[in-house]
Parts: sequence; C-alpha cells; structure tokens
Amino acid sequence: MKSRFFGCALVLVTLAGVSGCRKHTETAKADPLLAAYDTEPDWTDPQKIIQLGYQQAQGQRIFYQHCVWCHADATPAGPSNRSNLTPVPPLLNDGATLNAESDEYMQNIITLGGSALGKSAMMPPYGRMLSAEEIRSVIAFTRAIAQPPYQPPGRPASQYSAK
Ligand code: HEC
Repeated sequence: MKSRFFGCALVLVTLAGVSGCRKHTETAKADPLLAAYDTEPDWTDPQKIIQLGYQQAQGQRIFYQHCVWCHADATPAGPSNRSNLTPVPPLLNDGATLNAESDEYMQNIITLGGSALGKSAMMPPYGRMLSAEEIRSVIAFTRAIAQPPYQPPGRPASQYSAK
C-alpha cells in the first residue's frame, strides 16, 4: 500500500516537470524580437524598436546602400546630402507624405526616377540597378518605419481602438 502511493507521487512529480519544461520553451518562442529578421529604431523615437519581417529587412539593406544619402538626415558615413537638395527629398519615414502615395506610384518613381513622373531628376531611376522585387522590399521597409504609421488601403483603423 505504502509503495503504491509513493509510485503515484513520483508520476505526478514527473508530469509536473514535463509541463514546466514545455512552458519554458513557449515563453522563449513568444519573444517577438527573436522572430524578427532585423530591427530598425523608430526615427522619431529611438527608444522604440521596430521589428522587421523578411521582406522589410531586405528593403532596409537596400535603403542603407542606395537611398539613405538623400532620404535620411544621418547616414552610416555621417550627415547626409538631404538638406543640400532642392526640392528636399522626404525622409523615408515621413508618413505624412508617403502614406498617401500608392505602392504603384512608389514602385514607378523608384524604377523610373523623378523626371519620368514630372518630379525632380535629383531622384534617380533604379530600374536597371534593382529588381522589381528589391524595389518592392524597399517600399515594404518604407511602410514599416512610417510615422505616423502606415494603414494599408481598405483596412481602416479599427473603430474599437483604445484611443
Ligand atoms: C541623389 C539623391 C536621391 C537618392 C539617392 C534617392 N532619392 Fe528618392 N528622391 C530624391 C528627391 C530630390 C526627391 C523629390 C522629387 C520631387 O519631389 O520632385 C525624391 C523622391 C522620392 C520619392 C517620391 C516622394 C513623393 O512624395 O513623391 C520616393 C518614393 C523616393 N524618392 C524613394 C527613393 C528610394 C527608395 C531610393 C533608393 C532606392 C531613393 N529615393 C534614392 C532624391 C534621391
């Protein structure tokens, strides 16, 4: 009788151990930063870290190679050209300007350059340097860092939002 009770208690302890273990791995998986391919500090608030998915992280890489010189104020090599240009190019996170532009328009101006769309020729054409997929990824990065945040068309802000 005694030993049977002891056996039972052992099984319970083992079960508790197993479920404890499972809980632990679930917590590790739930950390969203581990699921991100890369991160970008919010340009308007560097305390905030934006998590980037795969396509957005590809776009980030292309942005820092090709676009940062004119579409950001700081570059990995120091201050940018931006303030020397007329018209001054929008910061790539400038949601007030770029959120209103469709993906199609963005794809066109990046591919064909400013002059093809009646804008400044200071915006170079990238259609021969970057693939359509690479240009899509820069647009995805643009949408990810936008301030105010980008709302995809047809998906209005929830009327139940906490504000
Ligand atoms: C040599 C400087 C320069 C570089 C490099 C550059 N741009 Fe531009 N870009 C401009 C200028 C100047 C304008 C503004 C054109 C105008 O308003 O007439 C512009 C405009 C734009 C616009 C349109 C903004 C609007 O509101 O219509 C987008 C989108 C854009 N650039 C994206 C990019 C991307 C993405 C890259 C990198 C692949 C890039 N640019 C590289 C100078 C540059």
